Amino acid sequence: MANKFDLLAHTWDKKSTRVDIAQTFIKTIKEKIPNIKNFDLLDYGCGTGLVSFGFVDDVRSITGMDFSDGMLEVYNQKIKDYNLDSVKCEKHNINDNHLPQNSFNLIVTSMTLHHIKDTTDFISKANIALKDGGYLAISDLDKEDGTFHGENLEGVEHFGFDKDKLTSTLEENGFEIIFYENVYIAKEHYPIFCAIAQKSES
Ligand SMILES: C[S@@+](CC[C@H](N)C(=O)[O-])C[C@H]1O[C@@H](n2cnc3c(N)ncnc32)[C@H](O)[C@@H]1O
Repeated sequence: MANKFDLLAHTWDKKSTRVDIAQTFIKTIKEKIPNIKNFDLLDYGCGTGLVSFGFVDDVRSITGMDFSDGMLEVYNQKIKDYNLDSVKCEKHNINDNHLPQNSFNLIVTSMTLHHIKDTTDFISKANIALKDGGYLAISDLDKEDGTFHGENLEGVEHFGFDKDKLTSTLEENGFEIIFYENVYIAKEHYPIFCAIAQKSES
């Protein structure tokens, strides 16, 4: 059965707020993380690739993962249209599956964490999927009152994130915080944060 993301996929890129959030995230990551040229990047909850395709000229490889067939269809069409060898995507549901171990230098995830019920599980799986010294970059809603999504709360598991709580979850699961700030205001009211954490040495 089609979920809400399948149905939204073909018009997803038309909303300027989504594009602006993705662009701000990309810019912040490029400013804060040096030398990403040889990086293998995972974009988790990649959607149509608004974040992924912003790194095409900057990293070695890009993998998009998402559980929505509709989103992956649009993502794959972009790979074809731009004839890109270094980008691929695959269907993956973080609620049911692990991520490949020791495989990525950078995991980015934009506006997806609030759709994942077990945030700690995601962060712990991301840690295992990163190579030594790798980075996890999260862009999402700061704590909000539940009005960001309007009436349609299908798939919404969190009304944003409290900075202190998310910082603790990251630190308790093998990360050191490099950067954590609100970087954008969506719909003139909802702060969007960018958190960048580095895998601690074990
Ligand atoms: C708000 S969209 C963001 C998409 C994209 N990152 C962007 O910035 O445009 C959230 C994405 O997370 C995906 N998603 C939600 N829950 C998921 C899960 N449990 N496993 C994998 N993907 C999931 C959805 O299919 C959707 O594409």
